[in-house]
Amino acid sequence: MTIRLAINGYGRIGRCVLRALYQRGLTHSSTTDTPLKIVAINELADDKTIAHLTKFDSTHGPFQGSAQARDGKLWINDEPGITLLHQADISQLPWAELDIDLVLDCSGSGNERDLAEAHLNQGARRFIFSHPATAEVDATIVYGFNHQTLTGLERVISTGSCSTNCLIPVVDTLHRAFGINAGTTWTIHSAMHDQPVLDAYHDTDLRKTRSAFASIIPVDTGLDKGIERFLPELTGKFQSLAMRVPTMNVSAIDCALQLNTEVVADEVNQVLESAAQQRFAGVLGYVNEPVASCDFNHDPRSCIVDASQTRVAEGKLLALHLWFDNEWGYANRMIDVACFWARQWH
Ligand SMILES: NC(=O)c1ccc[n+]([C@@H]2O[C@H](COP(=O)([O-])OP(=O)(O)OC[C@H]3O[C@@H](n4cnc5c(N)ncnc54)[C@H](OP(=O)(O)O)[C@@H]3O)[C@@H](O)[C@H]2O)c1
Repeated sequence: MTIRLAINGYGRIGRCVLRALYQRGLTHSSTTDTPLKIVAINELADDKTIAHLTKFDSTHGPFQGSAQARDGKLWINDEPGITLLHQADISQLPWAELDIDLVLDCSGSGNERDLAEAHLNQGARRFIFSHPATAEVDATIVYGFNHQTLTGLERVISTGSCSTNCLIPVVDTLHRAFGINAGTTWTIHSAMHDQPVLDAYHDTDLRKTRSAFASIIPVDTGLDKGIERFLPELTGKFQSLAMRVPTMNVSAIDCALQLNTEVVADEVNQVLESAAQQRFAGVLGYVNEPVASCDFNHDPRSCIVDASQTRVAEGKLLALHLWFDNEWGYANRMIDVACFWARQWH
């Protein structure tokens, strides 16, 4: 069964989704029994720029294939053209005409169920938010942790945030092994498109008026709420902070966890290494080398535990350092969720 996709919002995540689909060979029935075929892209930018930024990417390098805009379509390799739309008004999107099974919303333009319903009203059958949404969505999925709860009856889901996808496999593993009493997390996130290159006005956030490449900038995060959503028994036990740093891609989470059991660092590393090899294989990674953030650029995993940084104070206070490619890892998880969900639709 071919799944007909529309990407709504073709920025960092939208373009990574397209590239990852082609890189993984998921657009062809010769390589998968559930091909994901991109039928349309809705992006406010013009066709020429869309093709240019498909071809060239300062973070992930050149596209492995051909990409050009012609006659209102984006032509990738020798495949049928992808219809290019430029509609801010959802009620003008021709999802019924284009027979869209699934909208991957990578626009960041809202998190309310109503927004997703507006796409369904246009004829799309299902919808995924590329960020945490309000409680009215049918499910919030961290692939590897709870994707198997999808039944196929859902219409609107979210794939959470890149930082939740990074942290949940680790917190879940350690909570099962040792019990977590409380925790604090610090997300160290690469710069994003909502920050200016030089100081500039921002509608709602004074910190985002400051040059992305001049400072370490504290920003708000809802990661503690994200942890509660997936592991309700930890409600009220986490606090989270975040900062943006002047790098283009790859982020990290530092966390301090107060455990219920006394541990030593090697024991914690062994538990995490085994989770990376078994329960969370493909999603969780483990490294014990003197690495730096750029070593994880274009890494498709949600989280890589840096075992060289694991520390324990007084037996129960554990400090961890986790890496993740906030763009490529997350785009791959959106695809994983879409593939799994589509198999439940029949
Ligand atoms: N980047 C990450 O590391 C990351 C990781 C995980 C999740 N996310 C989430 O993914 C979403 C997108 O993030 P991003 O980093 O890809 O942002 P981005 O690079 O700014 O991409 C968003 C794109 O959507 C376009 N757009 C905005 N409103 C639209 C609308 N109504 N219809 C169609 N297109 C619209 C934007 O155009 P304009 O530029 O013209 O506004 C932009 O090209 C956000 O919700 C973000 O939280 C991002």
